[in-house]
Amino acid sequence: MTLEGKTVLIGITGGIAAYKICELIRKFQKSGAATRVVCTPNAMNFVTKLTLQNLSRNQVYVDEFDVKEWKPEHISLADESDIMVIAPATANTISKIANGIADNLLTSIACAFSKQMIFAPAMNCNMWNNSAVQDNITKLKSKGYEFLEPETGFLACGYSGKGRLCSIDKIYDSVVENLKYSKLLEGKKVVVTSGGTIEDIDPVRYISNYSSGKMGLAIARSAKKMGAETVLITTKDVEAPFKVVKVKSALQMQKALDDEFETSDIIIMAAAVADYRVKNYSNQKLKKTSEDELVLELIKNPDILQTLCSRNKGGNKIIAGFCAESENLLENAKEKISKKGCDFLIANDISRHDIGFSSEYNEVTILDKNGGMKMFEKNSKDVIAREILEYIIKK
Ligand code: CTP
Repeated sequence: MTLEGKTVLIGITGGIAAYKICELIRKFQKSGAATRVVCTPNAMNFVTKLTLQNLSRNQVYVDEFDVKEWKPEHISLADESDIMVIAPATANTISKIANGIADNLLTSIACAFSKQMIFAPAMNCNMWNNSAVQDNITKLKSKGYEFLEPETGFLACGYSGKGRLCSIDKIYDSVVENLKYSKLLEGKKVVVTSGGTIEDIDPVRYISNYSSGKMGLAIARSAKKMGAETVLITTKDVEAPFKVVKVKSALQMQKALDDEFETSDIIIMAAAVADYRVKNYSNQKLKKTSEDELVLELIKNPDILQTLCSRNKGGNKIIAGFCAESENLLENAKEKISKKGCDFLIANDISRHDIGFSSEYNEVTILDKNGGMKMFEKNSKDVIAREILEYIIKK
């Protein structure tokens, strides 16, 4: 992908991995992107301004008060750039940004930056595992900042553990992927469900399934990046920069969807809803009996997707379902899309261990109600999520 016309702002903080960022700047230059570089004063102990200036073919910014224009640099650099990547990101800079501290040019820009920001941390493994640092990372993630996890291996400080800067290719690819987003869903409300429902048997036991909730979460994140007002109804604990409604059972999920239905434009049911719940929930823990067999009576749950589709009579909403199959994927998917009456059905093969449940990857085929079909080859769930939304919007 050519990045012609894009401006990437690279923030370098004071860690030994700072020298690796020279290669990252070169990659962006080759792709056609304009690069602007801002460093913390400590970063200057590891790389020289002259090197960075030559590679980026631009002035390198360090000092807040080295003002050349009427507009302060922390505002103009933030305004001019399409994306910001902080690499290496030290524990100190991550923690300052998480708490709104703006005590140097880099942290001031980060504070004023309203577009996508990506952190590629690198530090000693004990610093990485420090609970205060981890709390700050969780806080930033919940606000939509992205993190490229450090790798495990030999560290410059002599330790061995998690803390090495991830590969330059990974940082580059993540920036390129994020630059593919445009505000296609501005003004729209997207409701997504995720996770497997939990159907209680008694106060200590339940029936559920292996759904990790990752695909639905990725779709909700993508919708948010495309500018949608996003709601995620999920059975999992999620901290995200959009509304999250935590539910447990299929009936609770149905109620939460009912609450959001009227105001929504797009509904995507990625949740694995239990088809049956226990008929007679026991308020007390069931005791073991002398019998060798125990028979649990189950009762059918409502088909939430089918009910929503039948409510969408005017057809002003787009409703999509997922279809997890262990055999005859496309035959079952075709049958399901007509039975449920949804606009799109996204089919994935759960018999494969490299994709689907719990995996970070997926490979799906999307069917539409008019007989159209498109396969999205194996990729990270984030990429598949963007591709699904773009396909739905285009159609
Ligand atoms: N679904 C739903 N309510 C249910 C069961 C499923 O809304 N009671 C939705 C799921 O969220 C998914 C789609 O229907 O979007 C297909 O789910 P799937 O489990 O593949 O199909 P089922 O209808 O449950 O059929 P089967 O289990 O026989 O494959």
